[in-house]
Order: sequence, then C-alpha cells, then structure tokens
Amino acid sequence: MASRQSNKLIAPAREQWIVGHEQRGIPLARDCSEGGFNFRLAVGIQNSKLLAYGTLCGGFLSDKWLGRPEPAALLGADVDEDGALQLHDPFECLEQRVDVLSGEVPESVEVREGPVTYDVDVRHGQKTGLFLDQRENREAAARYARGRLLDCFSYNGGFALYLARHCEAVHAIDQSGDAVARIAANAARNGLTNVTAADANVFDELRHYERSNERFDTIVLDPPAFAKNKASVEKAIAGYKDINLRALRILQPGGVLVTCSCSYNVDEMLFLQILAEAAADAHAHVTLLEKRMQGRDHPVLLTVPETYYLKCVILRKAA
Ligand SMILES: C[S@@+](CC[C@H](N)C(=O)[O-])C[C@H]1O[C@@H](n2cnc3c(N)ncnc32)[C@H](O)[C@@H]1O
Repeated sequence: MASRQSNKLIAPAREQWIVGHEQRGIPLARDCSEGGFNFRLAVGIQNSKLLAYGTLCGGFLSDKWLGRPEPAALLGADVDEDGALQLHDPFECLEQRVDVLSGEVPESVEVREGPVTYDVDVRHGQKTGLFLDQRENREAAARYARGRLLDCFSYNGGFALYLARHCEAVHAIDQSGDAVARIAANAARNGLTNVTAADANVFDELRHYERSNERFDTIVLDPPAFAKNKASVEKAIAGYKDINLRALRILQPGGVLVTCSCSYNVDEMLFLQILAEAAADAHAHVTLLEKRMQGRDHPVLLTVPETYYLKCVILRKAA
C-alpha cells in the first residue's frame, strides 16, 4: 500500500477513479433481485423493495446505471424506481443527512441478500441501513459456520440470519435496541426459528460466557471502528485484543472465528498482529483460513490507503 496521503485527496481521487473503474469493466454483480450493493450514497426503491444502491465510488446494480457516476444522476428519469434517497455519510466529508431525491420513500425497505430477506430502515439505520460491505464475507462465513453460533455486534443480524441455515442455534448481541428488535422481526420473516437476540454490551457478555463456561462452535466479531483517528489507535488495539482473546477462549476446539475490523487506522498487518497476540494469550493454536476485505463493490484505491478499511479474517482454533 502506498503511504498515507492527505485526506484532501480522497474525494477527487475517488471521483476520477469511478470513471476508470467503469471503463475497465471490472465485474460487479448487477442483479437487482440479489439486493443492495455499494458504497453509501444513493438508493432507489420500487414497491417498497430495494431496487439498487448507487455509489460515489464504484459499480452499480443495474446496467442502466453504468456510466452515470453522480448519485443524483444515477437515480435519473430512466430508472423506474418509485422513489430515491441520497444518503450522506460523514466519512465522505459530508454532513450526515438523508435527502429524498424523488418520489416516495417508505420508512422501511425490503432487501434480499442471498437466501435472506431483510426489512431495512434506510432513513434512520446505521450506514445505508444494511452493512453491504460485509455481503461477500457473510457468504464466505457460511462455508464454515456450524453448531452454536454467537454473532457479536450483530446490528440487524446480517451474519446471524445469513448463517442461521448452517447452524443449530444462533445468538446475536448488539447494544442497539432497535437493531435487536429488527433481528427478531427479520428472523420471523425468514422463517428462522433458531435465532435469539439480546440488547447487551459485547465486552460484558464475552466475560460472562467465559466465567459461566459457555462455549460456541462459531463466533463472529464485527465491531464498529474502534480507531476513528490516529489518537485512538492504542485504545483500539486493546479493544480488538480483548474481544478476540475472549472469543478464542469461549470457542470450542475446532471452532471458527470470523473477526473483522473496519478501522482504517488499524491496517491489515496490525490487525493480524493483534490476532496473533490474542491467540497466544488465549493459549489457542489457530490457523488462518481466509484473509478477506470489504466487498468488491467497495473498491480500494491503491493510492488512497484509507479506502482499504474493512478486514475480515477467518480463523480456526485447533481441535
Ligand atoms: C459494524 S456494525 C455491525 C454490522 C453487522 N455485523 C452486519 O453484518 O450488519 C457494529 C455494531 O456494533 C454495535 N455496537 C457498538 N458497540 C457495541 C458494544 N459494546 N456492544 C454491543 N454492540 C455494540 C453497534 O450498535 C452496531 O450495530
């Protein structure tokens, strides 16, 4: 990765890159029926279902949208959505805001991701209402998930619901009461009867499981960015180490840990080092099954290292 550059370069560099990206035809999924795609910015809705996500930064769901990188233009007259939203995120150096670009946008929108249908709050939810950047990682995690699953920092249950078909029992934890209520509703909507969810603090719960000798076969850790800036990196390292150490302790031998960091201030090398230290302290022999990143529709610009923000590491604890 190139050395860090001024934040000022991010926006223009991204915009230039969109054009290059499309001209080179980097393959991206474009099946609207497969659900949402992309980096935060524009959302088209039809019959209360997600039609497409557009982005300042990459490819689009619908062929109709190709070559139209501006979010407002993306959701133009020839896209037959009922309504369109534009979502601004402070990460994009914009004020946090949701604008209705056109038509009517319901409070809640149906999004299909693989086998799961989610009811998503696009207006008030975190990020775009759904963490689309984890889409391919949920698919990867499904290759290993089994037995009792603990989904930590679960939000609407992205991992929990996707992996539930592969597991006997699933427990999801998030400190957002709204998100937890959506997990239960979305589980029922998908006919999943093996999912429970709790509004709780993951740090406390992991300690509680350790003390009460409760064990899991699969654990997902997908916390918010602990290091939002350079000054918070040391504290973030301690946080990542704590949750990974405890998760490895309560993971059954032979079990799988899917562990993520979306802090761009903690790069892949540092994250792997933290995981190695957590494994050593937990006296766990751990093998690396997969080293993954944000979905391909959340592109990484080589000259802007901050764009590689999401790390997803899949580990197996030796039997
Ligand atoms: C990156 S999001 C998780 C996305 C989710 N895994 C998915 O696939 O959709 C992080 C979540 O952590 C939750 N959170 C933050 N701190 C927490 C804590 N100490 N305990 C429990 N949940 C927490 C937030 O409410 C947020 O929903």
